[in-house]
Amino acid sequence: RGKRAFIAGIADDNGYGWAIAKALAAAGAEILVGTWVPALNIFETSLRRGKFDESRKLPDGSLMEITKVYPLDAVFDSLEDVPEDVKANKRYAGSSKWTVKEVAETVKDDFGSIDILVHSLANGPEVTKPLLETSRSGYLAAVSASSYSFISLLQHFLPIMNPGGASISLTYIASERTIPGYGGGMSSAKAALESDTRVLAFEAGRKGKIRVNTISAGPLGSRAAKAIGFIEKMIEYSYVNAPLQKELLAEEVGNAAAFLVSPLASAITGSTVYVDNGLNTMALAV
Ligand code: NAI
Repeated sequence: RGKRAFIAGIADDNGYGWAIAKALAAAGAEILVGTWVPALNIFETSLRRGKFDESRKLPDGSLMEITKVYPLDAVFDSLEDVPEDVKANKRYAGSSKWTVKEVAETVKDDFGSIDILVHSLANGPEVTKPLLETSRSGYLAAVSASSYSFISLLQHFLPIMNPGGASISLTYIASERTIPGYGGGMSSAKAALESDTRVLAFEAGRKGKIRVNTISAGPLGSRAAKAIGFIEKMIEYSYVNAPLQKELLAEEVGNAAAFLVSPLASAITGSTVYVDNGLNTMALAV
């Protein structure tokens, strides 16, 4: 039987989530997607109209199939957590069952179980502000959307994950070394995500024989990264300074993710794996 993957955090064909979906589809997995509620309409419309057909192409020439797209807002765990103004918001009112708990329940009703859980989402409303100028609410929002969202997803999906399965998330080196410009508590959120990867690997390993790893990815000009404002500079910096002087392709991160959630990586859990052309190893720019 082929594996089934739920990938949270795809809203276009530019980001790491899309590339991971493609790598998993190429390896024969069935693809389910969780898309942020405000981005759902345009993503589904674009899919339906064939806007992504070129980038749906897999190595064998076939097109990646997405079996189902679920609306998701990973900052809300269950319906009781949703404030009235969000419930009343037009974009949210048009969809239903998009809290983490409800999405997991719906996936269970639809398919029974999954094998692979992918977390490819982050949000920090004050990301452009230095940490020193970040508000409490901005900081907590970054951690809620970018770190706790993974805990919540794993908590709710673990009961329907088949033993031997695996999860993967994406992190960034700003968690361990200072990257001026990656503000708003996003560096803190990534540090939490990496620490949680170790603790959750223990807990999910013992509880459900599930592996938990995170990929520390190099810079990619995704929609989220462009919102931060200095991504082109980071891509250039990496190109000039990394051991491998080449563009980092989303596909390379996708392939590493496919490896890490596959049986080929059956003894790897709790790890932060760098997929960054080796940039993390450098201490002196030459
Ligand atoms: P992206 O824009 O393709 O993905 C981020 C996704 O998160 C978007 O689809 C957005 O709709 C979704 N999202 C935001 N808030 C959400 C919420 N509350 N509930 C559900 N979905 C929500 O951008 P990218 O860059 O591919 O991001 C994917 C992951 O990769 C993130 O964790 C990011 O921090 C990480 N990463 C990105 C790097 C880069 O240079 N682009 C470098 C290292 C890590």
